[in-house]
Amino acid sequence: MSTNVTPFAVPAVAAADRPLVRIVIVGHVDHGKSTLIGRLLHETGGIPAAKLEHLKAISARRGMPFEWSFLLDSLQAERDQGITIDTSQIRFRTPSRDIILIDAPGHAEFLRNMITGAAQADAALLLIDAAEGVRDQTRRHGYLLHLLGVKQVTVVVNKMDRVGYDEAVFRAIESEITSYLAGLGVRTSTVIPISAREGDGVAERGARTPWYGGPTVLEALDGFDPARAPQDLALRMPVQAVYKFDDRRIVAGRIETGSLKVGDEIVFQPSGKTAVVKTIESWPVPPAGQEVKALKAGAAAALTLDREIFVERGEILSLPTARPHATRRIRVRLFWLAEEALEVGTTLIARLATSESRATVAVVHEVVDPGHLSSFESKRIGRNQVGEIELLLSRPIAADPHGLNARTGRVALEIGGRIAGGGLVISVLDGEAAHTPEARHITPVSSAMSNDERIGRFGHDGAVVWLTGLSGSGKSTLARALERRLFNRGGLATLLDGDTLRAGLNSDLGFSDADRAENNRRLAEVANFLKNLGHIVLVAAVSPSAAARARVREIIGSRFFEIHVSAPLELCEARDPKGLYAKARAGEIRGFTGIDAPYDVPAAPELVIETDKLDATAAVDRIETMLAENGVFHRYAAIADDAGL
Ligand code: ADX
Repeated sequence: MSTNVTPFAVPAVAAADRPLVRIVIVGHVDHGKSTLIGRLLHETGGIPAAKLEHLKAISARRGMPFEWSFLLDSLQAERDQGITIDTSQIRFRTPSRDIILIDAPGHAEFLRNMITGAAQADAALLLIDAAEGVRDQTRRHGYLLHLLGVKQVTVVVNKMDRVGYDEAVFRAIESEITSYLAGLGVRTSTVIPISAREGDGVAERGARTPWYGGPTVLEALDGFDPARAPQDLALRMPVQAVYKFDDRRIVAGRIETGSLKVGDEIVFQPSGKTAVVKTIESWPVPPAGQEVKALKAGAAAALTLDREIFVERGEILSLPTARPHATRRIRVRLFWLAEEALEVGTTLIARLATSESRATVAVVHEVVDPGHLSSFESKRIGRNQVGEIELLLSRPIAADPHGLNARTGRVALEIGGRIAGGGLVISVLDGEAAHTPEARHITPVSSAMSNDERIGRFGHDGAVVWLTGLSGSGKSTLARALERRLFNRGGLATLLDGDTLRAGLNSDLGFSDADRAENNRRLAEVANFLKNLGHIVLVAAVSPSAAARARVREIIGSRFFEIHVSAPLELCEARDPKGLYAKARAGEIRGFTGIDAPYDVPAAPELVIETDKLDATAAVDRIETMLAENGVFHRYAAIADDAGL
């Protein structure tokens, strides 16, 4: 944001009750980007009437019809003279949000800021020209969203006036772009037909698109979730230093996220050492009775613990229930700045929060040239390019995937004492046992077949369909029906049933929260493995914990479909195929989901199937349609004829 005065009466900081949402807008100027922004500013009351009149008068004088994009041009011109706002960050208000709209040019500097974490976006608007449809340009923009890792995406199909507000044109674009984005692991929340020029669909539902029942652009913006406040996230305090005063050890650091209080049991990662917070020290020493008892995100902390443990700078303090991973292998999406290209075997120093570790590039997965915004086969990441790599660290560090915690999910890379790149932790790839010297000699072996060969044979991509719900809700029945359908159509469908795997692979696990989380993690790892080999994996597991399912989603990444198989508890209990509800009621078995253990209803599943309302065939149809819409099937048209199975 420029420091100059803005002509609009918009506060620089969101009021406490008005969440701030940062939205990147991605699209080509020719697709009406400035027109849409100009229109949005106007509709939200961000433009003084006098300014508008002035611009209209100028247009009239020049004998040109007024265009909303003139508004942005005029702001830009003022900016060039250094007098008003930075048009790359535009602020306005929707009924319940303060919005910062960030114009996203695909250029290197923008990408660098986003990927190294210097700038952040909570959501994105992708703009497409209805008359042009999905072209290379749009695909590149979609790819940009994938790189930025934004979770909430609304697609706006503009210039509907140019195609006579034709629903068929819109639907074709809608299905093409959602499946393209889904293939990149980007979920689209809504696709909106608009004419920014005429105003249809921006602030008001256009009378010319009666076939469209979804939100307007303003409603969509108003519905975006703001970033969660740092103190609402899990506790993370990277240890800066450990001081010894007389016989006391003081652990010092900054609380990046979450909060902490005296008496909390805490754990340090990667060492896994635990303790209880005894005191929070402050200077000058407060009078008795006025000691600090609790701190939250943003505070500098100096703690004493109830026991003598040896911890070091670089560890991260957290609560035992939500700790960062201890890892020696991380997947990083990075922006490379150094002259010399990065490739497998490059060694560097990785810094994450206060930790520092030697690191070697183990795999180069993807290289992207920001100019073209598409990935290409390369084993080297050149200067100003973006890439995805796996880093092997010389010792374990504590880390979070960036999607869970931006502050402990970001690395800086150095060579020879100079910053060489930076990026986001996409995933944490190993478990604790991977930290032994022996584990360093493990080299994963890749499959002999390419993905295209598998698609050629099976007609579909790999995917994971995760069925979660109460015991007796119908998960296994549905999974088996789907397995049969996909198989009959020549696909490669594999059923992983929670109960079945508990008989072998997971037979060491019971039904405590931790065991269930571990059960779900293993199912996810196996499912992911099979997905990468082209299977459509059907997982049926109660998976009652939202946190455990979030981890599952993270492990699997793209083409993951969470389906809530839902039926009223009474019905599940009435079905009670194994007589387990009766046993749980009688107290013979403990921790039974729905009876004496909770089930977290999925907040945003890809699909909900109510088995009290839908029979198995109809439910299977729905799931197949969802997979088709998300681009999983490559020969779907051919197999769709094979109805009635
Ligand atoms: S999960 O919670 O770990 O995802 P999963 O689906 O693998 O559950 O296993 C649940 C199955 O174990 C149930 O379908 C039921 O047959 C059986 N089971 C036995 N004891 C319990 C229990 N206490 N709570 C829930 N399920 C139980």
